[in-house]
Order: sequence, then C-alpha cells, then structure tokens
Amino acid sequence: MLEDPGVVQVAAMSSRRSRDIAKCDRGLTMDGTAPGDLTMTPQAMRQLAAKATEALVERITGLGNEKAWDGEFRNVLEGQLGGPPPEAGLPAEDVLALAVQEVLPFAARLDHPRFFGFVPSSPTWPGVIADFLAAGFNINSCTWLVSSGTGQLELVVTDWMRRWIGYPETGGGLLTSGGSAASVEAIVAAREAAGHPDRPVVYMSDQSHGALKRAALIAGARRDHIRVVPSDANFRMDVRELARQVARDRDDGLQPVAVCVNAGTASTGSIDPLPAIADFCEQEGIWLHADAAYGGFALVTERGQELLDGIDRADSVGLDAHKWFFQPYEAGALILKDKKHLEDAFAIGNDVLQDTVWGKNHPNFADRGQQLSRQARALKIWMSVRTFGMARFRAAVQNGLDLAHRAAAYVDDSPVLELMAPVSLGIVCFRVNPAGRDCSEETLEKINRTVLARVFWDDLAFFSSTSLKGVFSLRMCILNHTTTWDDVRRTLEASSDLGEEALADL
Ligand SMILES: Cc1ncc(COP(=O)(O)O)c(C=O)c1O
Repeated sequence: MLEDPGVVQVAAMSSRRSRDIAKCDRGLTMDGTAPGDLTMTPQAMRQLAAKATEALVERITGLGNEKAWDGEFRNVLEGQLGGPPPEAGLPAEDVLALAVQEVLPFAARLDHPRFFGFVPSSPTWPGVIADFLAAGFNINSCTWLVSSGTGQLELVVTDWMRRWIGYPETGGGLLTSGGSAASVEAIVAAREAAGHPDRPVVYMSDQSHGALKRAALIAGARRDHIRVVPSDANFRMDVRELARQVARDRDDGLQPVAVCVNAGTASTGSIDPLPAIADFCEQEGIWLHADAAYGGFALVTERGQELLDGIDRADSVGLDAHKWFFQPYEAGALILKDKKHLEDAFAIGNDVLQDTVWGKNHPNFADRGQQLSRQARALKIWMSVRTFGMARFRAAVQNGLDLAHRAAAYVDDSPVLELMAPVSLGIVCFRVNPAGRDCSEETLEKINRTVLARVFWDDLAFFSSTSLKGVFSLRMCILNHTTTWDDVRRTLEASSDLGEEALADL
C-alpha cells in the first residue's frame, strides 16, 4: 500500500529533528560537524584536490595561447574580493572556483613562453607538486628533530650548488625565500666575520640590485656608508674605483666589511670582473659576496662556467632556483665557501629548542639564517631534478643562453632595432632606432615607451625596460624552458613593427 507522502514527510522531519537534537547534545552542528571542526571527509578532500589539479593543468597547458599578462585596478578587485570574513563558509568547490576565476588570473603570467619581463620563472610540475606535498605533510624544515627527511634533502641540494660553484667541502649553506634574504644573510655573515665593527661599509656597483642596498641597511650599514661603485661601459664594476673608495674609507677610520659583486645583473646580465675583485678582496681581507640570484644557475652549463669564472673565489654566493632553475616561488639559496660563518652569525641557543640540538652531524637549518619556521624548499629542487635529470635541466638553461644570442644576432641584422648592451647570459637590451632616421634621444625614448606599452596592451608578449646610464632601453630576459625561437622572433618582430608605426605617428 502506498503511504500518504505528507505523512511520510512529517515522520521523516520528526525523526530528523530528534537526530539533530541528539547531535547538538554531542556538540555537533546540524550537518554533523563539531563547531570547531576544520576537517573534510576523504572524499571531499580528493574531489577538491582533483578540481585544483584540473584547473592547474588546464592553465599550464593552455598558457601559450593566453595573454602574457593580466591585472586589474584595486577599485575593481576590492569590489569583487573585499569585505569582512564570512561567519559561515561556502562549499569548498565554490571557493576554489572563485580563487581560480576571480583571483589567480589577475597576475603576470611569469611562466608564459613570451613573458620576458624582469626576471621571470617557469616552474616544473614536479616542483609544483613538491610544494603541495610539503604543505600537506606539514613540514617545518627548521631543525633535524622536526624534519630530518627534508633536512637531509637540503644538505643534498645545497651540496649540488656547492659543487656547481666549485667550492671545497667546507662549503655549504641554506635555502632562503629568495635573493633578497640570501643577500641579508650573506652581509650579516660578513659583518660577523669582520668582528661586527661599529662603522661597517658595504660596497656594490651602480648596477647592483636594490636588494643588496636593503640588505646592507638591514645588516647595520648606515645609508651613507653604502658605497655605489661606478661601472664601466659594459656595466661591470670599475675595480680601480673600488680600490680608491676602500682606501679612502680606511683612511677615514671606517671598516669595509663586504664587497658585493654581480654574477649577472638584472638589468643587462653583466658580470663583474670576478677574478680581479677576488684578488683585491683577498689582499684587503674583505668578504666578497657574489649576487648570482639571476645568473647563478648558468653554472650548470659549460658556457656558464666560463662566463662566471672566478665565482668560487667569493666567500658567499646567492642564487635563486625560482629564476633559472625552474622552481616555484620561493626557492633562493645562499652558499658559503666556509659554512661555519653562517652558524657563527645566526645560531642562538633557545631553551625551548634544547631537544633539537643533535650535534654537528645533524645541522639545524634555523641556525644558519633568519627563519625558524621554514618551508621545505629542498623538496621541489630535489624532486624536479630527480624526475628530469640534470641533462635536461642543463639543456633547458642552455636554451636561454642560445636564444639570447640568437636574439642579439636578429637585432644586429635589423635595420630598425639597435642593441643597447652586450648580450650577457640571457638578457638582451635593445631599442627601436631605425637606421638613417637620425632620431633625437628624446624621440627615441618616446617611441620606445610607446612600443613597451603597445606590446603590453596588445597582449602579444610581455617585456620590461631598464635605464642604461640614463638611456631608456627595452629589455628581454630569456630563461623559460618552454620558450622557442619563434616566441622570441615574434616579439622582436612586433617591437620593430610597432616602433615603425610609432615613428610614423609622431
Ligand atoms: C640580480 C638579482 N639580485 C637579487 C634579486 C632579488 O631576488 P628575490 O626577488 O628572489 O628576493 C633579483 C631579483 O630579480 C635579481 O635579479
């Protein structure tokens, strides 16, 4: 016999109500979760992860057909994303969709094959997955006791870097958030090695990255004790001028603690005369730090070894795996010729961590730098290198070097484009300057600013600019492992065409 649906409904409601009351008695909410429950069922976890994976694979495999940049003004984003934290949550998949559609696309696509601005990055998938795993395993790579597995990997990958630099076995270091943090830690180590003098002076070139100046300030150098040494016509530090400045400072009773050299400037890729500056620092007993945040991983290639000859004579080297070693942010490194200087500078006893002291053979990376809680950065480097092997990594780095040289040859052959600096590592500085047009510097700057904006807004590609001793220059930094010659040629061709149009419109 069929039951009256109304009767069934009432009976179901009353039995649900009695279950709800029972749940509330056990401190559960109506949907069966405790009020402070932040967990998900295994099925919900899998579904959410699968959706996230799908979104990522779609993004990464479709990147070449997308714009190289997207962004939005704050007033628009604030309207869409602002507001107080909600009291009740939404379904996780709706929140994921919001993040994927309304937040994450508004960003420079730094891994786009035609993104040549600043110093980009193009992470490998195993590296991305490693970050996900490290978060899921909830690793804090602070001490050996807390995470020996990733501690061991940090020893392994920093030892790879030690060998690429050419340091002896005393060498070693740690992984950092990036080049900025590595610079701070290097200059602090230098300051401590110099006996923490009262009036420290730090030297760098006029081509050094702003991160070095900030690091010197953090390490305690007064603003007026940061020396900016001029560079030569090829953007390399003038060693004689460095020597003059050091002598003058010593005469004035100041204490030089570190010279920072560039092993690949962000502006032109220029490399300071490393052997000559190493000779000078050795004679003077001054710490030599090489900022190789951009250029350092060229060391995995033979050509890079030649270009960076002498880097092993620096006391410390900073290099970023989230640049030319294909890792997701953040993956910097600081490697010292003698790692003991890091622990001399940073190890601080701490009662609450006394159980974590396992002796010299089991280093606590928190004792080598400024962070206690630390991401497991070694995992991504290790997993991606183990997956693809060094032969492929080397070829991917070499691809950037080769494409930059091919780009330089293209610019040299072009009647419209002009090379603005010698190509170094993977950076090509150029501008539109049609032969025989005799444009003034003012006109050239105007045209080239227009080209930069047109490329940006017309979405073909993305590059950025720099100022070369005051002259406006377009600049491409080529290091993405998915970039092809066609990507580079298309971008240069577009610059040339847009430049001619800009000139015609003047
Ligand atoms: C040469 C150089 N040094 C230092 C830095 C700062 O590194 P990070 O952004 O990883 O802190 C950069 C960044 O692009 C760089 O190119």
